[in-house]
Amino acid sequence: MNHHPQYATDFDANAYFNAIYQRPIILEAKKLSQIFKYQQQERTVLKQIDLKIHKREFICIIGPSGCGKSTLSRIVAGLDPYSSGEILVDGTKIHGPSPERGMVFQGYTLFPWKTVKENVMFGPLMKGSSNPVAEAAAREWINIIGLEKYENQYPHQLSGGMKQRVAIARALVNEPKILLMDEPFGALDPHTRQKMQKHLMDLWQNIDITIIFVTHDMDEAILLADRIVALKANPGEIKEIIEVNLPRPRHPELMTTTEFKNLRKRVDFLVHAQEDEIDPALEDLPKIPRMTQVSTHK
Ligand SMILES: Nc1ncnc2c1ncn2[C@@H]1O[C@H](COP(=O)(O)OP(=O)(O)OP(=O)(O)O)[C@@H](O)[C@H]1O
Ligand SMILES: [Mg+2]
Repeated sequence: MNHHPQYATDFDANAYFNAIYQRPIILEAKKLSQIFKYQQQERTVLKQIDLKIHKREFICIIGPSGCGKSTLSRIVAGLDPYSSGEILVDGTKIHGPSPERGMVFQGYTLFPWKTVKENVMFGPLMKGSSNPVAEAAAREWINIIGLEKYENQYPHQLSGGMKQRVAIARALVNEPKILLMDEPFGALDPHTRQKMQKHLMDLWQNIDITIIFVTHDMDEAILLADRIVALKANPGEIKEIIEVNLPRPRHPELMTTTEFKNLRKRVDFLVHAQEDEIDPALEDLPKIPRMTQVSTHK
């Protein structure tokens, strides 16, 4: 086994990205802004975001805590209204949530009172499919995510990784054009997380879908993304868009290569918040008082 994988020399990054840019634009943000009220003051969280995402791209969004990553995903999902600008999917302005934009959020949990199968059947039933049709579609996706043995279990009987697999199946059964994922693997242990990354890569390479994936984890972003959108905080603006010019398929061993490490350095540098880019809410973190009952004895 080769423990020091070499950078594939026949990978032509220019050709790869040119091909992406020739595909139709599936999602476009035009001068998108979000202003929230914060302690009686208006606060611009997202400022004039311009972004074009092409069909079948894998986009990762990174940036310091509070820079507006979740705000942006919620707006694209159609869950929140926004202050100004536009969001277009396939050239049409979005109005609210739609099955064409599937969601897998860390806090966007499964219905606890429904089984795995019933959770996945939910979308097709809502769309008006008959019970047998919804069940067949659910079964197909449950097989794809490899949870056929668990189809009659309830969410509380599953591990965190399994729950996120069900959440992915529940979104994909609706055949969305775009899959929005906000820190979907954030609560998983490193090993499960790595397996989920691979699973997601496999899914993405085999189905016609565009993925927008928010993460704190820069290695994860580099491993998964075609392009990384680095946001800065206060206000949330696009700092830079990085083309990840590493060959696919990508394996975690790629992290040991010089190419990966160099990219990682650049991404670290971009995300490292400058003084004026820190979310003001984080500056108010209180000093923890000494609890009298805490013993200093070992
Ligand atoms: N509904 C809301 N009303 C008021 N302020 C909000 C609202 N939602 C988010 N904010 C503020 O907007 C800023 C950006 O929040 P957001 O959750 O988008 O950050 P994030 O980049 O996802 O951070 P994290 O990495 O910690 O998840 C924060 O300062 C937050 O307090
Ligand atoms: Mg967030």
